[in-house]
Amino acid sequence: MTPMDRRQFLRHLGILTGSTLLPVLGGCDSADPAMPDDGATDGKVAFLHGVASGDPLQDRVILWTRVTPEADAPVQVRYRVATDPAMTQVLIDERVVTDAARDYTVKVDPVGLQPGTTYYYRFESGGAVSPVGRTRTLPVGALERLRFAFASCSNYPNGYFSAYRHMAARRDLDAVFHLGDYIYESGSKGALGRAHRPDHEIVTLADYRQRYAQYRTDPDLQEVHRQHPMICVWDDHESTNNSWKDGADNHTEGDEGSWVDRKAMSIQAYFEWLPIRLVDPDDPQRIWRQFGFGDLVDLIMLDTRLYGRDEQLPLALGGAQLNDPNRQLLGEKQQDWLTAQLAGSRARWKLLGQQIMFGQLRVLTLPEIDLLGVNLTHELLAINADQWDGYPAARQRVFDAIDAGQVENVVVLTGDIHSSWGINLFRDPGELANLLAGIVGDPLELGLIKAHGVEFVTPSVTSSGFPDGTTGLLRGVFGLTDPHIKYFDGTLHGYVLLDITPERCQGEWWYVDSIEDPVAGESFAKGMYTLSGQNRLRDADGASSDRTDAPAPAP
Ligand SMILES: [Fe+2]
Repeated sequence: MTPMDRRQFLRHLGILTGSTLLPVLGGCDSADPAMPDDGATDGKVAFLHGVASGDPLQDRVILWTRVTPEADAPVQVRYRVATDPAMTQVLIDERVVTDAARDYTVKVDPVGLQPGTTYYYRFESGGAVSPVGRTRTLPVGALERLRFAFASCSNYPNGYFSAYRHMAARRDLDAVFHLGDYIYESGSKGALGRAHRPDHEIVTLADYRQRYAQYRTDPDLQEVHRQHPMICVWDDHESTNNSWKDGADNHTEGDEGSWVDRKAMSIQAYFEWLPIRLVDPDDPQRIWRQFGFGDLVDLIMLDTRLYGRDEQLPLALGGAQLNDPNRQLLGEKQQDWLTAQLAGSRARWKLLGQQIMFGQLRVLTLPEIDLLGVNLTHELLAINADQWDGYPAARQRVFDAIDAGQVENVVVLTGDIHSSWGINLFRDPGELANLLAGIVGDPLELGLIKAHGVEFVTPSVTSSGFPDGTTGLLRGVFGLTDPHIKYFDGTLHGYVLLDITPERCQGEWWYVDSIEDPVAGESFAKGMYTLSGQNRLRDADGASSDRTDAPAPAP
């Protein structure tokens, strides 16, 4: 990207100043003659897409909203940050201007906040007032406990977003993570009156913006944004299916424009609509970044999708091409950064928030499994080529980084696969000692095999998983061929709750009763934890307890 391209790109993201537009970098002077008075937009603006916050640091957090103006003209928006839900103890009161160039989204990054503190915020424009949002800055120092929830894959026509509502209702979370497929690109209608808008595959900037706007009218998605700061990364469907750095399975060069343009437009809309901070002005398509939660957690967010990924190859191909040591998933720059982050982390737990399944699914060892006319083995094979299994050298480089830094307590967090998995991570889970675990005893305790961490894979919010009836069958097969896979469910929807102390990191799968019921309940299904220094999953007795001192929700 040339410097001129970069300036244009940044302007598209609404990040360059111009004379009046700089919401993302802070407040503007309300006396600026280029800005209309509050009264100039009185009665002509609505807040239809809720509020959001994200990318907390120790002293700042991104705050977001969007205005829907009656007329196409710049809109001044006032925002306030307070320490109480009633918004009486106001710390920050500033104004910014937004306009059509950024789709009337507003993104501010107020500084001077205190670490580990809950804040409440609200936007106003003319006579219109947004809902009150709640957010929280990163904590510092010695911590006894952290709680997070993470999700992925919310396909709007497929069902109601109850998983988001239940995440929102948890008052005691420090943050929520979104691991991608926040939107889908198709023109699906679905069967619930939740047809995608626009009604065709999204390819232009206007399409992508309209799709985000539709999703952000969903009350459950609005609520999770309103109650918790979100730390997010994209996966493929924020651009299009099985994308990689220079193309996508679902992109037709020419008919659907150029991939370079489509990728840039999808990224522009993402930065407009998600509460994410620009990571590096000199590398504006970078979203890999780190968040430190005191001495307990370093959260390392990765981009396995658009930044450095080489094209997917058929797994069945095997051989030299698939195993090429130069084959990239993260790209060299991101891999070097990850290696340095792992080596330099002083936190007890290193969470890797990323898109695709890291642990091996030894799919080529599976028998041909046919169920109800579906060949599950072929289905798994097709999915797997897009995951870390399709990039074996790239995965070995992560293991190399763990070994080189003698890094303990790596916990990989994953979305994408629309199903639930708990996995022990080994360089080679096919080692005889692992496969014979049931006969010779636990290979980890016997010192026969070295573990490198564990992985929790979240089910989808609504996207379709494996066919009904497959869970039991596949559990049985994995028990024989893939004993490092300790938990699997192929069909249910929900999210993963993380409860973390210095002694243990526990992941819990929570499932909604239905995605066809807009007020569906949820239930705890399974908990697994790893003890510090052990890098292996064990069954938990039950769900962890809620915090008793959670801050008040946003009213
Ligand atoms: Fe997905």
